[in-house]
Amino acid sequence: MLDIESVRKEFPILNTKIRGEPLCYLDNGASAQKPRCVIEAVTKGYEFEYANVHRGLHYLSNLATEKFESVREKIRRFIDAGNAEEVIFTSGSTEGLNLIAYAWAEKNLVEGDQIILSIAEHHSNIIPWHFLRERMGIQLKWVETRADGSLLAEDIISAMNEKTKLVSITQMSNVLGSIVDVKSICSAARDKNIISVVDGSQAIVHLPVSVQDLGCDFYVFTGHKLYGPSASGALYVKKARFEEMQPFLGGGSMINHVGRESVSYNIPPHKFEAGTPAIIPMIGLGAAIDFVEMLGRENILEYESGLVEYTNIRLSELDFLNLQGTNSDKGGIFSFIIRGNKLHPHDIATIVDQKGVAVRAGHHCAQPLLDYLGFSATCRASLAMYNTEEDIEKLVKALKFAIELVR
Ligand code: ALA
Repeated sequence: MLDIESVRKEFPILNTKIRGEPLCYLDNGASAQKPRCVIEAVTKGYEFEYANVHRGLHYLSNLATEKFESVREKIRRFIDAGNAEEVIFTSGSTEGLNLIAYAWAEKNLVEGDQIILSIAEHHSNIIPWHFLRERMGIQLKWVETRADGSLLAEDIISAMNEKTKLVSITQMSNVLGSIVDVKSICSAARDKNIISVVDGSQAIVHLPVSVQDLGCDFYVFTGHKLYGPSASGALYVKKARFEEMQPFLGGGSMINHVGRESVSYNIPPHKFEAGTPAIIPMIGLGAAIDFVEMLGRENILEYESGLVEYTNIRLSELDFLNLQGTNSDKGGIFSFIIRGNKLHPHDIATIVDQKGVAVRAGHHCAQPLLDYLGFSATCRASLAMYNTEEDIEKLVKALKFAIELVR
């Protein structure tokens, strides 16, 4: 079990005050705070270990390369990939998903082919596929959530047909918190020769992940939600896919030889990592992964599950709140509006901020879902491993304060 007070002490920002109140940070779905070990890894990296990687023969370049490349093995272990070369460093899920769209889908799909998406996808898992719709005539097929906010594997599987060539699905909705049985989706896709892409941006923070067990072709996640620096992240590519992929970004590091009329490419993963990478952010992500593993992913899941249950109970008791996504298989993301639209979500977020409570309001980069739900915006509280029942009580109190202002 997590010793939550010790965990909280590792995050310096949690000891600060916002507007005279101790920080109550419930905007973790947007980005998580950083533990001391990540901050120290970044500082130490720039102070004592910095040079460009992969190209120098001097001491610092070798040291930086060693530190940087060791993160590949950490990520491999963290997502349980078979080989470290299946791990491509990215700046986050957005780059990962764009890479899949150009490197794999643009090369292998033709006009009329179909891609299945859920209505609950983040824009980063929508726009790259829209580009292919606009440019290549690819069809997008949308699968909706059920009334309780759940996104069911059976609904996605039954949308698959002979035109479907790729399915790209979130493992956990960034708006509703719904957890998706992506393993069943990937298994059905495999049986039908459909390529499977899993967006793990939210899920990997809260759930243990094994890409081999999921059986996906591609898996993306971003470092900054996983307590690591922004501009860090990774894309898992099943080895069998590499020979079907064309390069994405062109530049240094991704080539073998460049002539006037010809070019040959480096081997994966470097073939897909053009230019100077985010060296220190990736080293920081390695430190974040060490931290999560040191605490234990099962322990984090157990602690967070209790907090999700508590939050569900406490927010459900507020009769002025219209909570979205009430399904039982749900992670720590709570979207809501005030019944009767007495307060716009932006107003709620601004008022609770006066009490030191940080939440997000808006469309959460998921406009198709918001349209489907019939809202232009929701207010969203999203949890991390360092949140407590006390944080939830502060949220409840701040929401009561907000509603009193308009009553
Ligand atoms: N994708 C992030 C969110 O859900 C920014 O808030």
